[in-house]
Amino acid sequence: TYVVTDACIACKYTDCVEVCPVDCFYEGENFLAIKPDECIDCGVCEPECPVEAIKPDTEDPDGKWTELNAKYAEQWPNITKAKPALPEADAMADVENKLETHFS
Ligand code: SF4
Ligand code: F3S
Repeated sequence: TYVVTDACIACKYTDCVEVCPVDCFYEGENFLAIKPDECIDCGVCEPECPVEAIKPDTEDPDGKWTELNAKYAEQWPNITKAKPALPEADAMADVENKLETHFS
């Protein structure tokens, strides 16, 4: 499966949701999650994200993002249409470790 990682937090550009053939993105306040049992591992979303937040779970060695995506995809509503990025997206794009400071 593919997973959404730190760079998405407080940005949420949503380009990714437009290309997913199985509509497996779920939307939180300032982050998106991919539902692992729906993702067909096609990889189409990965290059769409302007901040490179989407990665294969093989690049999540400790499983932190895999676990987080699975958990929140169960709780949040599905999103299939792009919408404007969060107002602070461009300013937040290069900030690191946003999970600790900006996740909500
Ligand atoms: Fe959707 Fe493919 Fe991305 Fe999985 S890898 S979330 S199926 S676009
Ligand atoms: Fe997030 Fe990138 Fe999609 S910022 S909403 S993973 S396009």
